[in-house]
This record gives sequence, structure tokens and C-alpha cells, in this order.
Amino acid sequence: TFLGIDIGTSAVKAVLVDTGQRLLASESRPMPTARPRPGWSEQDPELWWRTVVAVLADLRDKAGAPYRSVAAIGLSGQMHGAVLLGADDRPLRPAILWNDARATAECRDLEAAVPGFGRIAGVGAMPGLTAPKLLWLQRHEPDVFARIACVMLPKDYVRLQLTGEKLTDMSDAAGALFLDEAARTWSAPILAACGLGEHQMPALTESPAAAGRLTRAAAEVLGLDADRPGGIVVAGGAGDAAAGALGVGAVTGGDAFISLGTSAQLFVTTDSYRPAPETVVHAFAHAMPATWYQMGAMLNGASCVGFIARLLGADDVDALVARSADAYAGPQRLLFLPYLVGERTPHDDPDARGVLFGLDPATTQEAAVQAVLEGVAYSLAEARDCLAAAGTDLGHAAIIGGGARSPFWTRIIASVLGVPIVRYRGGETGPAFGAARLARMAATGEGAEVCTKPEVEAVVEPDPAFRDAYAEGLARYKRLYRALRPEFR
Ligand code: XUL
Repeated sequence: TFLGIDIGTSAVKAVLVDTGQRLLASESRPMPTARPRPGWSEQDPELWWRTVVAVLADLRDKAGAPYRSVAAIGLSGQMHGAVLLGADDRPLRPAILWNDARATAECRDLEAAVPGFGRIAGVGAMPGLTAPKLLWLQRHEPDVFARIACVMLPKDYVRLQLTGEKLTDMSDAAGALFLDEAARTWSAPILAACGLGEHQMPALTESPAAAGRLTRAAAEVLGLDADRPGGIVVAGGAGDAAAGALGVGAVTGGDAFISLGTSAQLFVTTDSYRPAPETVVHAFAHAMPATWYQMGAMLNGASCVGFIARLLGADDVDALVARSADAYAGPQRLLFLPYLVGERTPHDDPDARGVLFGLDPATTQEAAVQAVLEGVAYSLAEARDCLAAAGTDLGHAAIIGGGARSPFWTRIIASVLGVPIVRYRGGETGPAFGAARLARMAATGEGAEVCTKPEVEAVVEPDPAFRDAYAEGLARYKRLYRALRPEFR
């Protein structure tokens, strides 16, 4: 069997998959995020490891014997986090996460220091991505900065506990902004601009490579077979966006999907490196060799629904969305800008915030929820327009992630984007499943043929009756943000 572990932001999830690619069991445990100051977002790397150990104990209890026959492990994780290790391989401070906005000034300085930055790194410098945070640490925490022996990414801290090796894969390295995306090597000029050298970076490997073996000590902690002949292989692994792509078989040029988790992505696989930093589309190395992707990366996805539920005092988010679905009578004038924690694509604006616009005395809770679902759909439509400007037209897209569980939201997204949206059956679609596929490739030497597309549950067509109203809604949504942009400063 193969084990896939996704170190997400809000949870660690693990799946056990058999040689027929059937999902045998899955488990997850939540994790908190610390926000010690406005705009900051941190987690202790030790929390990730403790949570992985706990989740795998749950998985072992649930799955029984097949857990003991794990042949290989694949890792996926939240991207862009800055994990800073000292010479003793211990974290020097909490990790600074992808949704942290402190390194704003450093982005400008980094771009000024490295001509053509966005074309090398796949997208311009934005707070939240790893490189500008290192420049921030150099300026604001010089003592920590001076002691950095290794800059790691979140899943690779877990790998260090599993194998004892400091290593990362191309797709996660891509999101650090230290990678020369075309060459798939560390970029010396970008490292130098952050006061770092290659000796402080983990070695690079392709995602499906057999990139290490589980140590005996880790096997014992995790209840895995320490005496397995040949050991238990650990794959290169992938950032969660690319791992999600492998899970739904998005490995060939043109394969597109929406991921609606805490954040939201519009992801399209490309056969070549296609940077377009002026569009704020991210062009990153994919989790298969010689493959890249273009991605609209939004910071605010299904997290917005949790937000409005909390604001309305609703404990049951699904029931709240269901009430909104019952009350739905087509597009409405009430608009929601979903930029609760700022936004990357298309605005590169860490200061942007959420807006509920057009309230009147008759506005209901159901209408507010609909506005939130539509607002996230409009942000996906803007990402679609950015991809078009980057040379990639979207004919249809799959949908994965927690947000994909709502047929109502999928219908709204199909109508707002004006393209069919494919929903897959079963839970075999998250980054953890993609990570398990990497485990399999690492153990067997197989390639992209492992990444088949899941069974289609439904193809949700856009509603032609709503086309014009949603097109007008999208235009108003775009104008509203642009009118308000100066007010967020
Ligand atoms: C992708 C992104 C998020 C994180 C957290 O660019 O910022 O998806 O990977 O999941």
C-alpha cells in the first residue's frame, strides 16, 4: 500500500491507497494558525510533526493490516512557508506561512535588485511567498537570520523527521521564488539578493523520484514496518497545488481545475514554462518532470464561507449554504469582495479587505451567503481572465477541495465562468491522494500513467438564463475593487 500525507494549513490529512489505487482509509486532524500581529500568520513546525504522528496513529487504528504493508510515502504540503533551521536542524522561530503579509516593502526591493525577477521565478515577488520573507528576517530579526543553516518548506520539515534528509522537490521549490523555473535549479541571483547562498538551501529532486528512506526510528514512532526489505521509500513529494493536480490527473497540457480549499486556485497544466508575471498568474514547475503549470492563486476561497457563517452566528456551515440554495432566485445586486486577507491573483494587494456592498433593509442572511459564494466565483472569473491574458483559454475545468462538496456553489461557478465544471466522485481528489500517487511512482518507477482522472460524478453546465446578469455582475465586481483600492491603504 501507499501512504499520502498532506500537511495543510488547517489540518494534516493522510490517506492509505492500495495497488489498485483504491482509497482504503483516510484521517485528518485540525491545526490552529497563530496570528500574533495583524497580517502575520505562523505555525510551529513541531506542530506539523506532532499532528502527522497523531493522524497516522488514527489511520493505523482505522486501516489495520494494510497500514503495516506501506511500501512508500508521498508528502504534500502548504506552499511558500518559510521554515528556518539552525545548525542543529531545529526551527529557529515559528514558520511564516503563505498567508502572511508582513514582507510588503521587501517585495519591491527584491524586484529592484533582480532584473527580470518575475520571468525567472515564475511570478513577481509578493508577501506570503518565501523569498521576500527572508529579506524581511534579515532586516527585522537579524539574529535569527544570522543563524539560518537551512531554509525549508513545510512538508520538507516533516520529511526531515522521516528520513533525516534536507531535500525539496521542484514544485514546492517553485513556490519559494528561489527557483529558476525554466532551468529547475536554484537561482543564484535571487538567493544573493536575499543574502543567502545555495549551501543554505535543501537539495532539489523531481517529485516522483525515490528521494529517501524512512529511518528505523521514524518507522517505530509511526508503527510502520522497520524491517521491510529495501526499506520504506519516501518520494520527492509536491506542493499542495501540484499534488492536487496529480490527484485529479491534471498532468497533460490544458488539463484545468479549480481548487476550493481555505485558499482558491485556478490551475492549468502547461507543456512548457509560460511565465506572464504582468498578469499575476503564477508559472511554476509541476510535480512531473519537464512539465509546468499556470495558476491563478487566490488567498480567499472556502474560508470566506466559514467567515460569513461565524459572522451570522451559524454553527452549521452546510445548513447555512443549503438555506441560501433554497432561497436562490438567480444573480443578485448584492456584491461581496472576498479579499479578507488581501489578495494575490489578480491584484497583488496585501492591504485589500472584504467588502459587502449594496446592503438594504431587506437584505437577508441567505442573500449575504449567496453574495459570498458569488464573490469567490467572480474572483475565479478574474483569474480566468488573467490566464487568458497569459495565453491560456479555459474551455472547461474540474473542481476539487472542500468547496466542491456544494452542488449549489458549483452551479454558481459554472454560470459565472460560463464554462462546464466537472465534479468527480468520491474523496480521492485531494493533495493527499496525489501524494500517495507520488509514493507509488517512487516505489515502482511508473510515470504519469498512474495519474488517471477520477470517475465523473456530474458535469455542471452554465445556466444560459443567468449569463448576462453574471457578466454584468463580474464587471461591477471588478469596478468596485478598483474604486475602493485607494481606501485600503
Ligand atoms: C498556493 C497557495 C496555497 C498554499 C496553501 O500558491 O498559496 O494554496 O499552498 O495551501
